[in-house]
Amino acid sequence: MHIDPLEKIWIYAVGLIILVMLGSIFYAAFANSVHPPSNVETVDSKRLHLSEEFAEDKLGVKTNPDGSLTVTMVAARYGIYPQQLELPANTPITFRFATPDVLHGLHMPKSNVDTMVIPGFISEVNTTLKNTGEFPLFCNEYCGIGHHYMWSRITVVDKSAAN
Ligand code: CUA
Repeated sequence: MHIDPLEKIWIYAVGLIILVMLGSIFYAAFANSVHPPSNVETVDSKRLHLSEEFAEDKLGVKTNPDGSLTVTMVAARYGIYPQQLELPANTPITFRFATPDVLHGLHMPKSNVDTMVIPGFISEVNTTLKNTGEFPLFCNEYCGIGHHYMWSRITVVDKSAAN
């Protein structure tokens, strides 16, 4: 089979480009030990619905002894649960997210809540919400055909109005 010399050069060039790209991905993954954005805490995704923390009736807002809040949520195809939350402004909040299925990304506008949620890990975000009003918490990682249905409504109220 005849291959034009110029074509041959480009076959090698493309091969080299692919090697460099794959190499840099693997280098970044291993050299920087890529892990979930905020903390490395594992969870059994397959048994999430039976877990102490992420079972359906355990989700939502918990008040800690020091007055801060812990919010436990599950991102699953295709929803973020609980689907509605009321949170006080100007209060330290720790969000803890997990997923039973695939990679999701959770983002709440006008806040620092923006994290990947990776199967097998718990993603933790610490925040203090400054702006009152209604905000969506939505998925920003394409996760399948219902990706755009994945969102929860978060209502941030004045601290004095919150119960
Ligand atoms: Cu979940 Cu996109």
